[in-house]
Amino acid sequence: MDLKEAIYSRRSVRKYNDKQISDEDLNEIIEAGLWAPSAVNLQPWYFVVCRSDEALKDLNEIMGGSIFGLTKVLNNRFKSNPEVIDETVNFVKSMGGAKTVILTFLQQEEYDEYTAAVESAAAAMQNIVLTAYSKGISSCWLTAPLHVEKELRERFAPGKGHLLAAITLGYSDLKPKAPRRKDGRFVIV
Ligand SMILES: Cc1cc2nc3c(=O)[nH]c(=O)nc-3n(C[C@H](O)[C@H](O)[C@H](O)COP(=O)(O)O)c2cc1C
Repeated sequence: MDLKEAIYSRRSVRKYNDKQISDEDLNEIIEAGLWAPSAVNLQPWYFVVCRSDEALKDLNEIMGGSIFGLTKVLNNRFKSNPEVIDETVNFVKSMGGAKTVILTFLQQEEYDEYTAAVESAAAAMQNIVLTAYSKGISSCWLTAPLHVEKELRERFAPGKGHLLAAITLGYSDLKPKAPRRKDGRFVIV
């Protein structure tokens, strides 16, 4: 698949079927993340891939605790679209049934240029979702887990830095429509 098609056609998918992605695909997806550019070549990411029944059970249990904080945010953002609120809450409670979920942490608690470290990890995550898509694997990048960051860090990455996001990976029959892209988001000077 060419890059342009992946960039334009990838969508956030919030419901998955039971089919697990292969080890081979997972390795290639993670590897693509590791090849992202990073500020002063820090490679500041630390990915925890939840794939075992035990890890997924713990993850989903902890995620259940995020709903209160998340609902507050969603109510503010999507007042006139209650169906978006329902879909997102249902998704987050069980990660849409995804059988593979990547948690992205930073390697360490503090950086001289913290924003640059976050941007680097975001570049890695974009590589991950695009590479997954190019393999027919659906994904959703989500920051809802930040509502339960402390619990997720304790369980999955003690001694590492902040949690930045999760990425669900799996197969789905859903083909969500592309949300409209907003005007006025760039200027050429
Ligand atoms: C930093 C970031 C955080 C996001 N957090 C969530 C989230 O917590 N829950 C969710 O359902 N989707 C989340 N998304 C997905 C966005 O809602 C989605 O990208 C946006 O609506 C555009 O849709 P598209 O990805 O299909 O183009 C997040 C995306 C990004 C990049």
